[in-house]
Amino acid sequence: MKITDWTIEDSRARGCKRWGVYPEHMADLTVAEMDLPVAEPILDAVQRAVGNQAFGYPIPDGNSALPDLCSRWLAGQGVPVPPGQVRLISDIIKGLTNAIRYFTVPGTPVAVITPTYSRFLDAVVAAERVTYQVPMTKFADRYELDLDALESALKNGAGSLILCNPVNPTGHVFTVDELSSISALAERYRVRVFADEVHAPIRYGRPFTPYSSVGPRAAEHSITLTSVSKAWNTPGLRCALIVFTNEADNRTWDRIPRAAKGGISPLGMVATDAALTGGGPWLEEAVEYLRGNRDAMIEALDVNGLGHIMIPADATYLGWWDLREFGLADPAGFLREEASVATTPGEEHGAAGAGFVRLNFATPRDVLIDAVERVAAALRPRTSTVFDVGHDLTSR
Ligand SMILES: Cc1ncc(COP(=O)(O)O)c(C=O)c1O
Repeated sequence: MKITDWTIEDSRARGCKRWGVYPEHMADLTVAEMDLPVAEPILDAVQRAVGNQAFGYPIPDGNSALPDLCSRWLAGQGVPVPPGQVRLISDIIKGLTNAIRYFTVPGTPVAVITPTYSRFLDAVVAAERVTYQVPMTKFADRYELDLDALESALKNGAGSLILCNPVNPTGHVFTVDELSSISALAERYRVRVFADEVHAPIRYGRPFTPYSSVGPRAAEHSITLTSVSKAWNTPGLRCALIVFTNEADNRTWDRIPRAAKGGISPLGMVATDAALTGGGPWLEEAVEYLRGNRDAMIEALDVNGLGHIMIPADATYLGWWDLREFGLADPAGFLREEASVATTPGEEHGAAGAGFVRLNFATPRDVLIDAVERVAAALRPRTSTVFDVGHDLTSR
């Protein structure tokens, strides 16, 4: 099926969370799954596996082709790592929770650069730790790492840092300078860095530098988490990668109780293999389609005098709208009530997200543009008030 032929009815028929939560009149732009058909090579491979009743426990990583395949994939992204140091885990958040629990000094707080993926904050709680939120600085056209805020968190005793690169929800791709500065601070304060790079394959031209590649020290003190599940739309199949760019960490991982590491699905392994061997052409097409959606959304916002609320995402299929100027107590609630558009509340992404909403633009373009129009109509009475009082919209 062509990417552009997919409809919301197709998504509903999946019976998954996406389009399975809200009543029919609501445009659901929440959960990060794509309204796109899965790549044919993945679908074929998973269908074959279903035909073979591959419903047992997964074979050990090392007996599958995946470590080799993943090692080659990662090397292509600038992470040279031997196959034996790429391990499978059911999902990134479980990998991250284990990383906090087993690779940091017990009890140490976890620094998290915000806004960030909400489940990172949950992972810290699950690991029975405290989060130090490190907000990025927002300019009119970009986000930037606040090195002073980061240093202050590390100086105050954080034992680790969670880095999301590219960033869910802002679409920011960290620069080499930013990553090198993080690495220098991590060395100075002897903290571990856990880098989630799952969104890296979905970028719109901005070069991506894996954290572990900025220098030998970064490789030593970091652990990388990724999977094919975001880029190839298979999050329900439960197979992710935890990548050890330090051999000693690999050995530590082997000592972690199996109870903390289970849950990988054989179907997820099959999907990962198929994505990495045959999913390239589909991904290229999908990224072009998503770029078109991003640009169409920005144009529609612009036409409605709202172009300034979104910094164009350099990666991911997530929009991050700054609605602070409208003075709404609950922006996501307002959009649900007044525009029938469901978005993710910004504060779920950390305190720095208050007044923002996140939305998923991997949805049919007409649905997306209709949602933007509905939001613009709901905000219009408030927009004119804002213009009347002469707020400077460029300084945010
Ligand atoms: C940055 C990031 N990491 C991880 C995940 C979820 O991954 P998993 O389902 O493998 O835990 C998401 C999902 O949206 C995400 O955006």
